[in-house]
Amino acid sequence: VAAAMAAERGVAMATCTAPVNIAVIKYWGKRDTDLILPINSSLSVTLHQDQLKTITTAAASRDFTEDRLWLNGKEADVGHPRVQACLREVRRLARKRRGGGEDTAALSLSYKIHIASENNFPTAAGLASSAAGYACLVSALARLYGLEEELSEVARRGSGSACRSMFGGFVQWQRGDRPDGTDSLALQVAPETHWPELRVLVLVVSGEKKPVASTAGMQTSVETSPLLKHRAEVVVPERLAQMMQHIRDRDFEGFGQLAMRDSNQFHATCLDTFPPIFYLTDVSRQIIALAHRYNAHHGHTKVAYTFDAGPNAVIFALADTVAEFVEVVRRSFPPATNGDQFVRGLPVGSAALSPELAAAVVTEPVPGAVQYILHTKPGPGPQLVDDPSQHLLGADGLP
Ligand code: DP6
Repeated sequence: VAAAMAAERGVAMATCTAPVNIAVIKYWGKRDTDLILPINSSLSVTLHQDQLKTITTAAASRDFTEDRLWLNGKEADVGHPRVQACLREVRRLARKRRGGGEDTAALSLSYKIHIASENNFPTAAGLASSAAGYACLVSALARLYGLEEELSEVARRGSGSACRSMFGGFVQWQRGDRPDGTDSLALQVAPETHWPELRVLVLVVSGEKKPVASTAGMQTSVETSPLLKHRAEVVVPERLAQMMQHIRDRDFEGFGQLAMRDSNQFHATCLDTFPPIFYLTDVSRQIIALAHRYNAHHGHTKVAYTFDAGPNAVIFALADTVAEFVEVVRRSFPPATNGDQFVRGLPVGSAALSPELAAAVVTEPVPGAVQYILHTKPGPGPQLVDDPSQHLLGADGLP
């Protein structure tokens, strides 16, 4: 509403930030590619925005002559179908809310809009940014038009996984049954405060090549993989219920085991796709083997890995394990150049490895294979940025 009032003269503006999420029960495959309706439900952990976030400013003015979009400072195609779908849905909801009546305080829906969006992390790191990007776009637009309803359904139209970034903590994207997608939305399973000891390490792998985009990859999987069909129909419904219980119980053993198995099955469906898709690299597989040696040495699940459509590993661990495991990673993948910046994000204490642990776990070091480690934790959903100095667009509506 504040944004709308300011619009009577000049430029109305709203700025939001939104988080990245990492799935522990993976989404892979659509039953409707236009509405972005999945073949199975999925479940993710929202990561803290202190380490990874998108910030987006949306502005509207009677004086703008066309819709425009800037991504990381460079003008981009505002006509992109998914950007247009989000815009159209937000405007439709705003129109519906006003019930066709004349709300003089409301921002005119006929005004063109300007959008600027930036990530606080390098895109080169290959960290999934579309989920945070679309969640942020929808949050900023909603603020601009004064919408207060739950908008995961709209974010889903930008990117499936984006609907889960509309909430903090532990989030389920429920598959839904309706053909129009009105029941395919995100629900918070537990807030980020639910499991205070949970930590996340993103192992950014070096020398990344451009992988097959998820949108194209998952469609080929739907068309060719019998394993994916079995996974969606039989495996995921069971796992989803189990995972929710592990989260409710803060049972790291159960949570970690299932997260690893589900990541592995997702990558197995990629191999079962024809022609096959490979997202994991030798380094990814070395990290997997390392995690299993580390857990075997300790006799229980201390760390759990998961991989999306790329080679970077996301590791879950409890806070008391982080320093030791980071030292294990440093010894296994000795930093090539940026030794001082090898660990980023939340502080990590120092740990000495016992000779037994080092001998059992650190087998064949591969120098330079991991670029850096980002230490973070579960965090909240999209946030409104109140401070006008943080807007990405100036009073003229330009970056
Ligand atoms: C492997 O959400 O990027 O990260 O809906 O086509 O935009 P589209 O795909 P996207 O797929 C994410 C796939 C995944 C698993 C997950 O996040 O659940």
